[in-house]
Amino acid sequence: MRKFVIGNWKMNGDALEVHEYVHELKTALEGMPCSVGVAVPFLYLPQLTALLGRIPVSVVAQDVSQFKGSGAYTGEISAAMLRDAGCEYVLIGHSERRQYFDEDEMVLQQKLLCACEAGLNPIYCVGEDLNQRLQGEFFQVLDKQLAALEAVRDHLPATVWVAYEPVWAIGTGKVASAEQIAEVHAFLATRLRAILPARCAARLLYGGSVKSVNAREILALPGVDGVLVGSASLTVAELSRIIEEARAMA
Ligand code: PGA
Repeated sequence: MRKFVIGNWKMNGDALEVHEYVHELKTALEGMPCSVGVAVPFLYLPQLTALLGRIPVSVVAQDVSQFKGSGAYTGEISAAMLRDAGCEYVLIGHSERRQYFDEDEMVLQQKLLCACEAGLNPIYCVGEDLNQRLQGEFFQVLDKQLAALEAVRDHLPATVWVAYEPVWAIGTGKVASAEQIAEVHAFLATRLRAILPARCAARLLYGGSVKSVNAREILALPGVDGVLVGSASLTVAELSRIIEEARAMA
């Protein structure tokens, strides 16, 4: 199966950059079979969808409202709205959401449910912070985070995406070692087999300072089905070097 490369722009870019990015991406991906997704800020999702047209790149949202349906939730974007904007996937529980917006397992469980019910594929992000890593508590932390997924198990799609993103490796230039990634991915695979219903298969991404220089080593690790790329996804040149590595491994 092809490795999945997702670029997460976070709160970066503008309409002009989206336009130029898609134009460059189209050229870079010409004749290149690959599995790619791009997560731009909410505002630019319809534009990204329209510009991509038939280019086989998935549109990914960075977050979704925890509230079902529609209603008096000022400032919120529902899962159905994201579908309407052309999204196929949505990041849920990114560490920046957990950290800056106090999103806990209860909220994330609601977001997961909303996404699944709207037919969006959640990419559930988990990961320990530096202190938890140093204290050797990371398995317990990850297990606790997986509880949100377990709570919505009956609603999950056939393929369940989970991204392991150690907080200490995000935006820091500090990549987890091959041993650390392989160890956690093996742990997650085992736990997910126990948590998920038999009809579901888990696929695991790694995220945290992934760049073209380390992508090959990370993508080659057992249990790594792809990468979630932040800052290195902001330029097509760098993202397409990572995609090239992923493609070589398919
Ligand atoms: P980074 O971000 O690649 O800039 O470390 C990864 C992420 O937050 O998904």
